[in-house]
Amino acid sequence: MTIVDVITIDGPTASGKGTVAHKVADALAFHLLDSGALYRLVALASVRVDIDVQDVEALAKLAASLDVKFGPDRVWLAGEEVSLAIRAEAIGNRASALAVHQPVRDALTRLQRDFRKLPGLVADGRDMGTVIFPDAGLKVFLTASAEARARRRYKQLIDKGISANIEDLLRDLEARDARDRTRAAAPLRPAEDARLLDTSDMTVEQAVAQVLAWHAETRA
Ligand code: DC
Repeated sequence: MTIVDVITIDGPTASGKGTVAHKVADALAFHLLDSGALYRLVALASVRVDIDVQDVEALAKLAASLDVKFGPDRVWLAGEEVSLAIRAEAIGNRASALAVHQPVRDALTRLQRDFRKLPGLVADGRDMGTVIFPDAGLKVFLTASAEARARRRYKQLIDKGISANIEDLLRDLEARDARDRTRAAAPLRPAEDARLLDTSDMTVEQAVAQVLAWHAETRA
């Protein structure tokens, strides 16, 4: 059996993991799994069919039957392109709220593991190294100060033409972090064998270079 090379990049919201994962995947010509997008898709779908964020059974059913298609930088839900719609802050907050439910997480597990394909995969999220790909060859945990992350999220939203307020973002981000870290189901935490990377004072290029250097070490 050929072993598929997996790199996991976990970390809190707006830590830069999405951008870093994207660039590392490009550099290695690996597949990319943005697992947060799956939780965001469940969140968006649940708004559309009006399912309450506490209705665990209905949410798990929805997650198990999610009709999604991924393309480079784009995602479709039931045939409709929703790449921008899933990035709204309200959808991110709802995704964090429904991600506390273990049955919802279980319903998304296989879908995530199916991304593991040759020549390799870069997977970003909260529990990629701890739960979904515990045997990954390289596990990275990205961190950055809450202020640095709020500034990044603000810039991301403004660049996409979505209006934003930096104080509101900081407050939401701290609330979301607290929920992601303290939930019972797959809480956000570094895997024991993860390498920690604080990107507060790093450029994206420096963070990417560090991950690629660690990856080269694992292959040496
Ligand atoms: O990475 P993101 O901001 O797109 O993720 C949105 C929410 O989804 C996040 O606040 C918690 C949840 N999530 C999760 O529980 N597990 C993952 N692997 C990825 C995201």
